[in-house]
Amino acid sequence: MTEYAIDVANLEKIYSGRSKKALDGVNLKVERNKIFAILGPNGAGKTTLMRILTTQITPSKGTARVLDFNVFSDGHKLRKEIGYVPQEMSVWTDISAYENLLIYSQIYGIAKAEREALIKESLIRMELTEYKDNLVNTFSGGMIRRLEIACALIVKPQIIFLDEPTIGLDPEARKKVWEKIVSFTKESGATVFFSTHYMDEADEYANEIAIINAGKIVSQGDSNHLKQSVGNQEIILGLSVPLDDKSKQQLRKLEQVIDLKTNGVEVEVWVKDASVALSSIMNSLFSSKVKIESVKINKPTLEDAFEKYAGVSYDSTEGIKEVNAVRRRIIG
Ligand SMILES: Nc1ncnc2c1ncn2[C@@H]1O[C@H](COP(=O)(O)OP(=O)(O)O)[C@@H](O)[C@H]1O
Ligand SMILES: [Mg+2]
Repeated sequence: MTEYAIDVANLEKIYSGRSKKALDGVNLKVERNKIFAILGPNGAGKTTLMRILTTQITPSKGTARVLDFNVFSDGHKLRKEIGYVPQEMSVWTDISAYENLLIYSQIYGIAKAEREALIKESLIRMELTEYKDNLVNTFSGGMIRRLEIACALIVKPQIIFLDEPTIGLDPEARKKVWEKIVSFTKESGATVFFSTHYMDEADEYANEIAIINAGKIVSQGDSNHLKQSVGNQEIILGLSVPLDDKSKQQLRKLEQVIDLKTNGVEVEVWVKDASVALSSIMNSLFSSKVKIESVKINKPTLEDAFEKYAGVSYDSTEGIKEVNAVRRRIIG
């Protein structure tokens, strides 16, 4: 067994009739049992990458392995090990939750004797048991998403691909969807590969994040790494009196202090990591007998990292309207 759940090299995709590369030399390794987020502006190539990794479309160039399978030559074996929840609607709304799960279990070729137990387990896992016989068109957006995930998990996949799993849901429903995904990965050891418009979700739930822009991975790392790579953190101190030259010099000499600017009773100090630097800055001021009246810390956010690497500002509403419109059309 290789250590990577996903191992992609020099992947390119040009859709027929198009000159622009949808993927332009993607290199990506995702460790097993990790929750991995892919972020990028609309049209960056997230869905294309996910469609290749789930064997739905073939790339124009490059190699891609998922689990221990070559995505192109071992597609039929790989498909048994993966779960996939597309960006679009993937359940029928005019039948019940149970009936959807039954259809999926048949599509996946699950033996009749095992179906009931697996459906029951999936319903419990996604907290839908009490609604199992209700028509899906009576469900909330969050319940529909949980049902779609339940359908994808019925085969107990080793890896699950989620394309915008919580798009358009309210914060409460998003939280619940994530609780269920996280507990599934903890219990099963599965890997999750997801795309999202919500930076806070990538920040909170992803062990690692890649940013894709115009078909290229432009940055990768954990959320702290990405944030720190944007720039220094800033500590703004409000003092009772302006700093004298000696106290300023003493602050500048501190190992953690990169730069310092004063403006009356306000001092701005730039550091790499405020949580490390703050205590020595405060000690230094105490020893100079300077009273601190306020402290504010500004840190680069994941949005800042997105803006730096994707070259466009992050807009959480981008894409959401489109998906909402599609879902509303289906649900009515
Ligand atoms: N089926 C398709 N045929 C032609 N071009 C496509 C198709 N699907 C996506 N594209 C193009 O490929 C690029 C990447 O799209 P996509 O993978 O959907 O991006 P994302 O999911 O990041 O929004 C875009 O320029 C898009 O217009
Ligand atoms: Mg997409």
